[in-house]
Amino acid sequence: MELTEEEREMLSGKLGNAVKESMEILNALGEIYGAKRMIDAASVQIAGVSYHNLGDAGLEYLAELAKDGRVKVLTTLNPAGMDLKEWEKLGIPADFAEKQMKVIEAFRKMGVTVTCTCTPYLVGNLPRYGQDIAWSESSAVCYANSVIGAKTNREGGPSSIASALTGKTPEYGMHLEENRQAQVLVKVKAKIDSVPKFGALGKVLGERIKNRIPYIEGIDSASLEQLKSLCASIATFGGTALFHLKGITPNKTKVPEETIEVSEAEIQEAIEKLSDASEIDFVGVGCPHASLEELRGIAELLRGKKVSKDFWICTARKTKELADKKGYAKTIEESGAKIACDTCMAVAPIKDRYKGMVTDSAKACYYAAGHNNFKTRIRPMEECVREALK
Ligand code: F3S
Repeated sequence: MELTEEEREMLSGKLGNAVKESMEILNALGEIYGAKRMIDAASVQIAGVSYHNLGDAGLEYLAELAKDGRVKVLTTLNPAGMDLKEWEKLGIPADFAEKQMKVIEAFRKMGVTVTCTCTPYLVGNLPRYGQDIAWSESSAVCYANSVIGAKTNREGGPSSIASALTGKTPEYGMHLEENRQAQVLVKVKAKIDSVPKFGALGKVLGERIKNRIPYIEGIDSASLEQLKSLCASIATFGGTALFHLKGITPNKTKVPEETIEVSEAEIQEAIEKLSDASEIDFVGVGCPHASLEELRGIAELLRGKKVSKDFWICTARKTKELADKKGYAKTIEESGAKIACDTCMAVAPIKDRYKGMVTDSAKACYYAAGHNNFKTRIRPMEECVREALK
């Protein structure tokens, strides 16, 4: 890799230990993937924030970096293992909370904007079309590449921190136009018109095309909420970091010759496979984090009613603050449902706490089964809320 004088200085240790270690990581990645140079990363989003995933080794690593590392660009965080303010209401143990706050303090010391969300694009970390960024949450990476048209590889925790502390990322993969062309044409022959169905489509595609880039035809419209659901599931079930949706997403691509079809039966089968719970004792929505519009809709459904099951609505704290101003949060909380800020049901330490979860998210089903040992059921938001009220 050809490094500039500034980048060589970073590598030499002249600009501090954290910068040196960061440039070593980025340089090694660049060499492995055949990058010719470093480019500026306009913003960073760091995953691997929950103490549940980091453990003590991760916490020590962050504390060491925080001694002299300071972020060079706008940097936000993925969900942590708990609501940073009201963790007790989610039943998080005090010893976990103490460790989680140490993780957050290390990031804060580095100058990170402590906004813990997988939808940073809804709360101020919004890149523009064509901008190079270094993000690591897979659903946000897919959203940034596909829906916004920014350019990012699916970074790991350490490489995204390294980009934050240097403002650089090696130019390979998704940063290069030639790697962003569609590889398979997908003709959707099913009616995809709800968040669970967009999630189911992501599962079908992820499993069939793995991490190849699809050009998807046959969907006439998609809301922000439906797109974030598709981004989350296609990345979870297959690893795709980019898709093209005809008439909806902004990137230009050649239309590939290889063609597959997705039928209504496949979508129904995916929904059935994600719905193995016979008993529901938990309702979890907001994966990816709920938008203000979703909070509005939930408030309408809950107005004047009381929930009879644990019901988490995961969202960014900034989104909740908007919902506070609009009165949605009060209506939701008066029903007994919990707005879980800064966290989500996949990264909070709630393994084995529930038997069956209903959600509108295919990705949430995947992690509930894999991480938390819950059975799942995927349904539209209205049915999830109805289940909470039963
Ligand atoms: Fe976000 Fe957690 Fe889902 S990080 S995408 S809410 S699993």
